[in-house]
Formats: sequence, structure tokens, C-alpha cells
Amino acid sequence: MLILDSNKISENEVTDRAVYDNRRKFMKTAAGIGIVAVSGLPLGQAQAKSNYSTEEKKTDFKDISTYCNFYEFGTGKSDPAQNAHSLMTSPWDVVVEGECANPGKYNLEDIIKQVSLEERIYRFRCVEGWSMVIPWMGFPLAELIKRMEPTSKAKYVYFETLLDRKNMPGVARPVLDWPYAEGLRMDEAMNPLTLMGTGIYGKDLLNQNGAPLRLVVPWKYGFKSIKSIVKIRFTETQPSTSWQKANKNEYGFYSNVNPEVSHPRWSQRRERRIGQFKKIKTQKFNGYAEQVASMYSEMDLKKFF
Ligand code: MTE
Repeated sequence: MLILDSNKISENEVTDRAVYDNRRKFMKTAAGIGIVAVSGLPLGQAQAKSNYSTEEKKTDFKDISTYCNFYEFGTGKSDPAQNAHSLMTSPWDVVVEGECANPGKYNLEDIIKQVSLEERIYRFRCVEGWSMVIPWMGFPLAELIKRMEPTSKAKYVYFETLLDRKNMPGVARPVLDWPYAEGLRMDEAMNPLTLMGTGIYGKDLLNQNGAPLRLVVPWKYGFKSIKSIVKIRFTETQPSTSWQKANKNEYGFYSNVNPEVSHPRWSQRRERRIGQFKKIKTQKFNGYAEQVASMYSEMDLKKFF
């Protein structure tokens, strides 16, 4: 495995070389079990620009990998980059349970063999007022959900992060109700924009960014994009989430990016792109209204924030 030093090489070199590395990893996995095509997409196309990608300038790899929120490793922005090396990411299993025909324990490498990996460049807006433009690698969550065959009772999808008290120094403090938990309504989970992230800049996800598998929901505030997922449950009722449990007046279940609905302690009208000086206007649904607004047309988004 090549070690990349993001300080010494340009962004383009990082992308090209890293995409190559990421592909190599998946090819190795495939060779081990004697298959040629690993995912729905030929590997050579993994780099093809997705229709869903923004053309905006990508945030530097260095910023993405050092300015993080991963409270299991501390609440400071630089804590995850400093502490998350202790996270054990391989082998990695995901337990699927609840309202579906195919519950069970699935190995991540097996999941990855059956899905279409692609690069998607998404805007990512944190509820705290900063944002980034991130080139994710990943696959649509819908592909995984379809394989699990949810029953007609499955109205929501619940996600849970690993809870490893030995290797996660941040969970010693009751900052949140551990394990970190999140949820989506079924139509949100099935929306083609909703991605299961496995990499950034073509490289495997770094631990601090939620390795080896995280959610990416680009029209919602960043805290919905739960990291290091070990459990997925299909439920009939709306699951409760860590941030709602922490403060339900400040963090709603939907948490769609919305400049018209302020957080009780700060406005959401503007945001600071990490790496840029001037603040910019926040767009409704983070600029993805065309793809997602219809899911909420009947809802009062001030009430269901
Ligand atoms: N997932 C877990 N398990 N723990 C966390 O603390 N933080 C959330 C989200 N997912 C968090 C998490 C928040 S608040 C944000 S803004 C994003 O991860 C940050 O993702 P990044 O650090 O990769 O930019």
C-alpha cells in the first residue's frame, strides 16, 4: 500500500493515485475468491464523474481528514485525526435486523463485491455552520436495502456505530448516548443521492472520517451521516437518534439543511466553506432540492425540522 503524504503532492495526484489504490484493494479481494468483476460497474469506471456530482472546488484532503467530528474519539475537531488510529476496521461486519426478509451478519468485503462503487462529489454542510465539498467513494444505500428485501412494515432505517470502549477514548464521557445512532425514513434511505461511503479522494476512508463504512446524506446536516456503521435495522416506527436524545429542541429527526429554519442558538442562513474566507449563502436542502424536495412537499419543515 502506498503511503500518501497530502502535504507533498497536489490534489490531482492524490486523486489519481488514490483511486488506483482503492481499486487495487477491491481487485485483491475479488482475486482471492476467484471472481473478475467485483461490482456492477467495471472497475475502470469507478472514477467516472457521477451525474450527482457538483463541479465546485473540492475541499483539500488535508482539511477533510484533520477537521472532523467523531465524538467517540473526542469532541475537539482535531481529536479524531489524533485518536482514531485505534479503531479496528478489518474484518468488519454489519448486522442487518428488523423488518426484512434477509436479516443476518454480513461481512463488508462481501457487501462491496455486490454493489456499484462510484465517486460522488457532494457538498457537505455541518449544523455548526461550516461546509466542505467532498469527493466520496461509495455505493447507493438503496442497492443494499433492496438486497435485504424490507417488508411492507419497514418504514424507517436505523443505523448504529461501533461501540468499542477499549479503543474509543471519547465514549468514556457521556457526551452522547452511546452507541451513536441515526435514522432515515425509508424513502430518504432509498433516494439515489443517499450514499454508503467507503472512501474519500479515491482512498479508503480514514478512520477519523468513519472507516470503513459510513452514511452520506448530502441534503441533511452532517450529523445525520453516521460513521463506522455496524448495525442497520428496519423499523416500523421512527427510531430515536443520539442527537435527539441529547437535545430534541435543537436536533430534529429530519435535519434537512434549511436556511429558513434557525437552530435555536444560531442562524443557518450562511456557512463557511473550510479553506475559504468569505461566508456563502446556505441553499435549501444544501442545493439538492430538485432531487429531494418532493419527499417533503406535504410537511411543515418548521415543525419537522
Ligand atoms: N458519527 C459518529 N459515529 N460519531 C460522531 O460524532 N459526527 C457527525 C457525523 N457522524 C459523528 C458521526 C457530525 S456532527 C458530522 S458534521 C460528520 O460526522 C462529520 O464528518 P467528517 O468528520 O468526516 O467531516
